[in-house]
Amino acid sequence: MSPKLPSNLLPWLIVLTFATFYFFSTFLSLHTFSSSTTSQSLAISKCNLFTGHWVSDPDRTPLYDQTCPFHRNAWNCLRNERQNMSFINSWKWVPRNCHLNRIDPFLFLGRMRNRNIGFVGDSLNENLLASFLCILRVADEGAKKWKKKGAWRGAYFPKFNVTVAYHRAVLISRYQWQPKQAKGGMQDGSEGFYRVDVDVPADDWAKIAGFYDVLVFNTGHWWNNDKFPEEKPLVFYQAGQAIVPPLGMLDGLKVVLANMITYIQKEFPRNTLKFWRLQSPRHFYGGDWNQNGSCLFNRPLEENELDSWFEPRNNGVNREARLLNYVIEEALQGTDINLLDLTHLSEFRADAHPAIWLGRKDAVAVWGQDCMHWCLPGVPDTWVDILSQLIHDGLEKS
Ligand SMILES: *[C@@H]1O[C@H](CO)[C@@H](O)[C@H](O)[C@H]1NC(C)=O
Ligand SMILES: *[C@@H]1O[C@H](CO)[C@@H](O)[C@H](O)[C@H]1NC(C)=O
Ligand SMILES: *[C@@H]1O[C@H](CO)[C@@H](O)[C@H](O)[C@H]1NC(C)=O
Repeated sequence: MSPKLPSNLLPWLIVLTFATFYFFSTFLSLHTFSSSTTSQSLAISKCNLFTGHWVSDPDRTPLYDQTCPFHRNAWNCLRNERQNMSFINSWKWVPRNCHLNRIDPFLFLGRMRNRNIGFVGDSLNENLLASFLCILRVADEGAKKWKKKGAWRGAYFPKFNVTVAYHRAVLISRYQWQPKQAKGGMQDGSEGFYRVDVDVPADDWAKIAGFYDVLVFNTGHWWNNDKFPEEKPLVFYQAGQAIVPPLGMLDGLKVVLANMITYIQKEFPRNTLKFWRLQSPRHFYGGDWNQNGSCLFNRPLEENELDSWFEPRNNGVNREARLLNYVIEEALQGTDINLLDLTHLSEFRADAHPAIWLGRKDAVAVWGQDCMHWCLPGVPDTWVDILSQLIHDGLEKS
């Protein structure tokens, strides 16, 4: 090839350069245009981030480590030296019909400026909160622990004037221990009972209306006989009176949900973006938590294994999540509370619980393995990616 271009080619070359330039600039602007219209048309209900599959992505690394000040010791799997943490965190959730971006904590907090996000529920919501705080702190290392009367824990991000906090309310409704001498609802042989006022929100979140722009509720794994055995049962009250005949646990949950959802609809402003987080599945293998059940898995489950683990008909020890989801989904129909269905994607991740790495020598002997909460960093970081995208879309619509 001659190093010198024939001179009659030069005009063509110039034309070609301009044409290429024109093509790419048009392409780029079209591309920007179409991606911005897609994100606007991603109504919360249209884009389903909840079904998909996990793919291995060796380049993926967590956004925070064991030094984050918002960890809870038992979930701080890096500090507790859980094996294979980098492998566990190399999996990426790929939704079937839409794109999931990883949260950009700077952009997200920028959009949330002067706004607050609240979580109400049990420790699985706290697990999500801890992940969220550690991720957001990347954009504001001056984040301060936030505690106010009524709020269990949280953080304030001074650069953005944003508070993200958790209100512990494991049954959502208020419940109180009533020792044996108290009147009413007693059965022989019991030590007392827990009175659940189905129409009264737990004190911890009763007075938060107006403070939060986004709220995420959950309840679930306290609704069973491990937490409330026969001799310490739940007794449901409405308008101050014991409900007769007494309700079983699942019917009690239905009545609590109906009442609390009505309360939320009435007391919280319409423009508060509301979510209800569905169940976080457990992965006890070979027995329940108190029967030496374990979760020493190296990789996620396969899709075709999920039903045998979780389908209620199969009566496995982890059937609770789907069972409760049916009840919760039904209760939420026709409300302005958005479903945050993190169950399916989490069902795969038998490999991502703290298991025996709990940071305390005696913990496993006393409590068994933890196959219920999640390692951090870990699966809740993906929950944060999804929630932050839904918050972004939801606030844009309002
Ligand atoms: C911070 O945000 C709150 C709303 O959460 C707002 O009332 C307050 O004025 C903001 N403060 C500043 C300094 O912007
Ligand atoms: C759990 O394991 C311990 C120690 O191996 C054993 O003594 C105990 O019987 C087991 N419990 C159950 C319920 O299998
Ligand atoms: C860590 O991964 C290796 C390779 O997959 C595996 O052999 C080992 O059992 C894993 N350890 C745990 C505790 O899962």
